[in-house]
Amino acid sequence: MSNIQHTILEWYDQNKRDLPWRNTKNPYFVWISEIVLQQTRVHQGTPYFYKLIEAFPSIDVLAKASEQDVLSAWKGLGYYSRARNLHKAAQEINLAHKGVFPSEYLSLKKLPGVGPYTAAAISSICFNKAVAAVDGNVIRVISRLLDLSDPVESSDMRRTIIEFANEILSPTRPGDFNQAMMDFGSMVCKPKDPSCPYCPLAHMCRARINQTQQLRPVKKPKKKAVNRFLIFKVHFNKGKIRMIQQQKGSIWEKLFVFPYDEFSTEAAFFTKIKQEPQVIIDRAIHVLSHQRLHYSVVIVQEDVPSAGNMWFPIEKLYDLPTPILVPRILSRIENHLVPLFKC
Ligand code: ADE
Repeated sequence: MSNIQHTILEWYDQNKRDLPWRNTKNPYFVWISEIVLQQTRVHQGTPYFYKLIEAFPSIDVLAKASEQDVLSAWKGLGYYSRARNLHKAAQEINLAHKGVFPSEYLSLKKLPGVGPYTAAAISSICFNKAVAAVDGNVIRVISRLLDLSDPVESSDMRRTIIEFANEILSPTRPGDFNQAMMDFGSMVCKPKDPSCPYCPLAHMCRARINQTQQLRPVKKPKKKAVNRFLIFKVHFNKGKIRMIQQQKGSIWEKLFVFPYDEFSTEAAFFTKIKQEPQVIIDRAIHVLSHQRLHYSVVIVQEDVPSAGNMWFPIEKLYDLPTPILVPRILSRIENHLVPLFKC
């Protein structure tokens, strides 16, 4: 057993976090936890994990659920293609694998939404397969241990990291080892303030020795977020609000949003807001991973509801699959809407 492997496992046995998905080897639950944790941190993700397994207690229930129900249960996590893939993968397991979760890394990797990391996590944790699961935590730990000075996104560095992760992986406890690396990364070898004085690997960490730990991992500069300018229109008629369902290609594919106009420049956006008679949110910003949405919200009272549109009572909007922006807007504008609904 290598020194690093021994030290990491010993540290894990004394310090591991008690997480709900660690009390099971059921691949369905572990899979759900991994997909949720791709989207958010452990603390924020735990209630979603419970919500999803309560709503869909088995692969079969998930496979047979409607896509709308899956999207609704995912609401708040963002990046809805993960929820769609979860649903598609459950259907594929039911059809192609007769409802039995695949155990092999390569079969897992073929499922929608399951990449190398998730396939390695499930196959090692649930089926004891010796494959390293390399997530952001593991990349950071290894880039410091080896003091890698090139961007970790480069294919050379990725290969180096994956090879090293597999070299130090425990062949007898691969699932524990993978999770140990994740916990070690989030509790000791932290991104901003690594606990080097207490780190059991400090004496073998090249970055610590070279005092470069704060500079690792080296990352490529991030692409600048795109600014978008939107005016959302809250059409209402007799207590109901009009929504549109977004088409393929939209960041909100298949989700319901208020109808909106989009402007290509900030100037055109401002000019239009000034002309609107009933602006209720003047200007706000909603930040997504690659986009900054600058938006305002206006009210449009319709005496005759336009045909072919979808109208929903306000309280129903909270149950619809929508981006989190919709309930955020609703909670800010409800005070304006309630008196109008009484008219
Ligand atoms: N992040 C993703 N998967 C995890 C796991 N199984 N344990 C801790 N953190 C994680």
